[in-house]
Amino acid sequence: MHNLTGKIAVVTGGGEGIGRGIAHALAAAGARVAVADIDTAAAERVAAEIEAGGARALAAQADVADAASLEALAERVERAIGPVDILVNNAGVMLDGSLVDGALADWQWVLSVNLMGVVHGVRAFVPHMRARGSGHVVNTGSMAGLAPRLASRLGIYSASKAAVVSYSEMLRAELAPAGIGVSVLCPSTVRTRIWDAERNRPATLGAGQPVPMPARVAEALDPMDVGPLVVRAIREDRAYIFTSEDARPRIEARNAAVLADVAHHEEESAAAGGGA
Ligand SMILES: NC(=O)c1ccc[n+]([C@@H]2O[C@H](COP(=O)([O-])OP(=O)(O)OC[C@H]3O[C@@H](n4cnc5c(N)ncnc54)[C@H](O)[C@@H]3O)[C@@H](O)[C@H]2O)c1
Repeated sequence: MHNLTGKIAVVTGGGEGIGRGIAHALAAAGARVAVADIDTAAAERVAAEIEAGGARALAAQADVADAASLEALAERVERAIGPVDILVNNAGVMLDGSLVDGALADWQWVLSVNLMGVVHGVRAFVPHMRARGSGHVVNTGSMAGLAPRLASRLGIYSASKAAVVSYSEMLRAELAPAGIGVSVLCPSTVRTRIWDAERNRPATLGAGQPVPMPARVAEALDPMDVGPLVVRAIREDRAYIFTSEDARPRIEARNAAVLADVAHHEEESAAAGGGA
C-alpha cells in the first residue's frame, strides 16, 4: 500500500505510548484514523491532537479482550468514516511474575489482551478487507517474542508475544493471496507507561504484581519515533518491523543457541547412522 492518502486506519491502544505514535504517523501520511482504547479519555485526547493538526480522526472506546467490543468498533468506524484499510492491533499489557507460580488470572489477562486482542481485531476487520481485495494489518509483537531477555520475569508476557509473532507470520501467508499485507512490529524498549499496565487490569482478575521499571527505559526510544517506522513498513509491505540496533545481536544470540542443538542433533544422528 504505497499511498496512504485518504486510507482509513484503526489503531487499538491508540490512546498513548506506541499506539499514539502510530496514530499520529498514519494521520501525517494522509490517513483518517480511528483511535481506539479501553481508556476513552486517552483516545479522545489523541483524536483531538490529530484533528488540531488538520487531519481527520475519530475516538472510540474498545476493549480488545472482548470480541463483541471489536465487532461493535468495526461497525462504528465503517459507519463514521468508511471501510477500514489499515488495522493496527497494538493494545497490550505487561506484568511481572513467575511462569510456575504466577496466578492463572495473570495468564488470562495477558493472553486475553495481547493474543486474543489481535485475534478479535482480525476477525472483526479482515473479512471486510478481504471482500475488497486490499488492506494491511500490523500486529504489535515485541522483541520479547522473538528473542526474550531470559533474566527478566516477563515469561508470561514473552509467551504471549511469541504467539503474536507466530500468528502474524502465518496470517501474512494466509492473507497474501487476498492482497492483504501483514507486518509484526517487534519493538525493543520504548519509553511508555507499559510498566504501569496494571492501570487497565480488570478488577475481576484481582491485583497483580507491579513490574519494576528497568533503568534502560529512561534512555529508551520515544514512542513517537516508532510511528514513522510503521508507516514505512506498511508502504513497503515488510513482514517485520524493528525499532532498535539491539535486534540483530539478540536474534543472532537466540538463533545461535537453537542452531547449537541442531548441530548436536546432526552429530548424534550421524554417529548413530555410522554405527548402524
Ligand atoms: N514499551 C515497550 O518497551 C514495548 C516493547 C515491545 C512491545 N511493546 C508493545 O507495544 C504495545 C503498546 O504498548 P506501550 O508500550 O505503548 O504501552 P502503553 O501502556 O503506553 O499503551 C498501551 C495502550 O493500550 C491500552 N490498552 C490496555 N489494555 C487495553 C484493552 N484491553 N483494550 C484496548 N486498549 C487497551 C492502554 O489504555 C494504553 O493506551 C503493546 O502491545 C506492548 O506489548 C511495548
